[in-house]
Amino acid sequence: MVFKLNNLLLSRIASGNGHGEDSPYFEGWKAYDSNPHHLTENPNGVIQMGLAENQLCFDLIQDWLKNNPKASICTPEGVNEFREVALFQDYHGLPEFRNAVAKFMEKVRGNKVTFDPDRIVMNGGATGAHETIAFCLADPGEAFLVPTPYYPGFDRDLRWRTGVKLIPVDSESSNNFKVTREALENAYEMAKLDNIKVKGLLITNPSNPLGTMLDRETLRSIVSFINEKNIHLVCDEIYAATVFSQPDFISIAEILQEDIECNLDLVHIVYSLSKDMGFPGLRVGIIYSYNDAVVSCARKMSSFGLVSSQTQHMIASMLSDDEFVGKFIRKSKRRLAARHRVFTYGLAQVSIKCLTTSNAGLFLWMDLSGLLEEKTFEAEMALWRVIIHEVKLNVSPGCSFHCPEPGWFRVCFANMDDQTMQVALSRIRTFVNKDVDTKKPKKTLRWQGSLKLNSPRIYDDFINSPHSPIPQSPLVRART
Ligand SMILES: Cc1ncc(COP(=O)(O)O)c(C=O)c1O
Repeated sequence: MVFKLNNLLLSRIASGNGHGEDSPYFEGWKAYDSNPHHLTENPNGVIQMGLAENQLCFDLIQDWLKNNPKASICTPEGVNEFREVALFQDYHGLPEFRNAVAKFMEKVRGNKVTFDPDRIVMNGGATGAHETIAFCLADPGEAFLVPTPYYPGFDRDLRWRTGVKLIPVDSESSNNFKVTREALENAYEMAKLDNIKVKGLLITNPSNPLGTMLDRETLRSIVSFINEKNIHLVCDEIYAATVFSQPDFISIAEILQEDIECNLDLVHIVYSLSKDMGFPGLRVGIIYSYNDAVVSCARKMSSFGLVSSQTQHMIASMLSDDEFVGKFIRKSKRRLAARHRVFTYGLAQVSIKCLTTSNAGLFLWMDLSGLLEEKTFEAEMALWRVIIHEVKLNVSPGCSFHCPEPGWFRVCFANMDDQTMQVALSRIRTFVNKDVDTKKPKKTLRWQGSLKLNSPRIYDDFINSPHSPIPQSPLVRART
C-alpha cells in the first residue's frame, strides 16, 4: 500500500516497467551471477555466453598503452596535459578525437568511404546514440520499423524515455532471415492500418544476433524503400570491424556514394567502440548524420551523455596510430575467425547447425529447434531453462530477439578464454548426446514442474539487459 502511494508521486517512466529489467530472462543473469564459472575455483559454475564482448585482443591494447604512456593523463609522461584535458567540456568534442574517430570509421570500412569529422557527434555508447537519434527523428507514439531478429536493448534505447514505438519486421529461416522488401512493405502497411506513423527504419549491419551482413542489393532496396516512403534510415554499424571473412562489409555510406537516388537528409549511422575495439566500458558512441539539422540537435543533446575528455584524449591518441590500428583490426578479425571456426566445428560434431551465412559478430546463431519438445516459444523457454540450470550455460533464447520462429539461440564466443570455450563446447556435446540417448528428456528433468512460461514474442521485455544492476548488488555493469 505504501509502495503504491509512493508510486503515485513518481513519473510514469519511474513507476513503469519500460526498462524491462525485471524481465523473466533475468533468470539467466541471476544464475550466472550467483554461480559464475571459474576454471579452477568454480569449474561447475555457469559459463557466461550471453555477453557480446570482444575480449580477444586485450594483449594488443595493453602493449600499446605500455608503449604510449603519454596517451594517459595519469602517467608521469602525460600528467602535464591533465589540467587542459580535465577542464575541457565542449560538447563538440576534442577536434583530435573527432578526426581520429572519422579516420577509424573509414579504415574499418576498407577506406572505401570518407567521413567528415564535423558530422561526428559523440554519445554515451551506441545506447545513448540510439536514444538521441530517436529523440531527434520521432515524437512519442511514432514508430521505427526494425527487422527481426534484433538486439533486445533497442526496446529500451529507442523506446523507454522517448515514447517512440518499435514495429518488428518479420523474417524467416528459410532465406537465412533476409530483410525483404515485401516484409518491409507489410510492416509499413500494418502500421498505417493501426494509425501509427512510421518515421524510420532501423537496421543493424552486421546483425546482432545473426552475425550476417546485408548485401549490396538489399542495402540498395532499403535505400529505395525509405526514399519512397520519405522516412529515416538509422544504420547501426557497431559490428563493422568484426567481419572476419569474405564477403567484405558494405557500409550504408558506400551505397550512398553510388549513383543512387537518395535524400541524404534521411540517413544516419550509429557507431561505437564497444564491439570493434572491445571497449564497452569507455562508452564511446557516435552518431554520424548526413542531415545538418540532426547533427546540430544531436550535438546539443549530447551534453547529457558526453564521452569524458580523459577518454577522448586517450582514444584520439590510440586511433591516430595508423600502424597499431591496422594491426589491431587484422589480428582481431583473425582471432574472431579462429573462434568462430572452432566453435562451429565443435557444434557440428553433435549435429548442431548454425546460420551458415554468418561471417561477423561476436556470436553464433544456433539452431536448436530439433531439441524442442514442440515447435513453440514455450518449448524454447523450457529448453533455455535446461541449458541454464542443467548445462550451466547462459545463452540467449531467440524470442528475446523477437525471432519469429522458435528454437534459435544466440551464443557468444569472444568473451572468454580458449579453455573456457572448450569447457562450454564439451558441456553442449554431453547435453546433446544425453538428450539423443534418453529420447524423451523432458519427462526426466526435475525442474520441469516449476516452469512459468511467458508469451512467445514479448515486445516489452528483453534479455541480458545492458547496463543493468546485478540483483542484490549496488554495482552497475555493462551487459550486452
Ligand atoms: C546492435 C547493438 N547496438 C547497440 C548496442 C549498445 O552498444 P554500446 O555498448 O555502445 O552502448 C549493442 C550492444 O550489444 C548492440 O549489439
